[in-house]
Amino acid sequence: MKILITGGAGYVGSRVVSHLLSQGHQVRVLDRLLYGGEALLPLTAMPIFELQVGDVRNRDAMLQAMQGTDAVIHLAGIVGEPACNVDKEFSWSINHGAVANLLEVASEVGVGRLIFVSTCSNYGVAEPNAAVDEDAPLNPISDYARAKVLAEGDVLRVNAIPTVTVLRLGTICGLSARMRFDLLVNEMAREAVLGRPVDIFAPEAWRPYLHIDDAAAVMGHVLKADPALVTRRVFNVVGENHQKTSLLAIAREVLPEIQASIVQRKPDLRDYRVSGDRIVKTLGFRPSRTVADAFREVAAAVKAGFFRDPDWAGYSAIPIGGFSAQ
Ligand SMILES: NC(=O)c1ccc[n+]([C@@H]2O[C@H](COP(=O)([O-])OP(=O)(O)OC[C@H]3O[C@@H](n4cnc5c(N)ncnc54)[C@H](O)[C@@H]3O)[C@@H](O)[C@H]2O)c1
Repeated sequence: MKILITGGAGYVGSRVVSHLLSQGHQVRVLDRLLYGGEALLPLTAMPIFELQVGDVRNRDAMLQAMQGTDAVIHLAGIVGEPACNVDKEFSWSINHGAVANLLEVASEVGVGRLIFVSTCSNYGVAEPNAAVDEDAPLNPISDYARAKVLAEGDVLRVNAIPTVTVLRLGTICGLSARMRFDLLVNEMAREAVLGRPVDIFAPEAWRPYLHIDDAAAVMGHVLKADPALVTRRVFNVVGENHQKTSLLAIAREVLPEIQASIVQRKPDLRDYRVSGDRIVKTLGFRPSRTVADAFREVAAAVKAGFFRDPDWAGYSAIPIGGFSAQ
């Protein structure tokens, strides 16, 4: 299959690209390289890989990128509330605005399949005693999630693309060539290795997690699925749900050196447990990696010296210098 991956130079995207190439797909990436493109450098010599540097808001760039592709995976975005708050207009123009461009061009070019990558943050605050499924009401409490909810609606309404699927991923953890240490599990593993204390806020808040390998694997799985099972459908993709206290218990087991304290003062408004049953039952996709695996792998990489400066500010969803520098 010829696949276009927008945002393919990112934390999740670069892992998705490598996974799909390893499955023999031809992959083109459209990315503005807000965080650089080092993650893709090892792939540039492969004849089945192509990078187009450009913006998903630009119609000509999209048109060029989609030529000849069978499927599109849309990952490009400004990710998470802190990054979106840096420049709200800029992030809205990408996280929601660019989706109109994506759908228009994909319909015009005749793309057969589209996977829109969304987030479990869309559930916001939910009844903590039960896991929400895909039919639960959405309660986005940040501009990041509000833009994703609107974009999902646009994607699911489009008729000109035969197979459109929305995947709501849990919070990702694990290693990537475009590393992010602003994600809780990765940050905890780094701090444990560097011998620094970690403050855990809102310890009772539930959150769904997904190992980055499973985030990559699910894309390949959905692309191969019977279109009748996936079109105009939403799937949660979740490995484990944890309160921060249970996350800390795992960390203490895997990384006994971790020094962490529970801090009650800063509330976390996001509190939700998410069911990933639909994708298991409908497509037989069951995440196979764990949060414990991510703790182990990230800690081992930091310990081994893979990151020259693990404190580098660029390992974040906010680029150095903010978005005005872009
Ligand atoms: N990381 C998570 O925990 C998580 C969880 C759920 C869903 N997601 C979704 O996965 C996707 C990727 O997240 P990530 O963590 O890899 O983020 P990331 O910031 O590492 O990657 C985003 C990529 O998109 C590119 N990009 C941004 N704006 C662009 C534009 N206008 N034109 C072209 N490229 C642009 C960036 O250059 C970057 O390479 C996002 O859609 C995000 O909402 C991520």
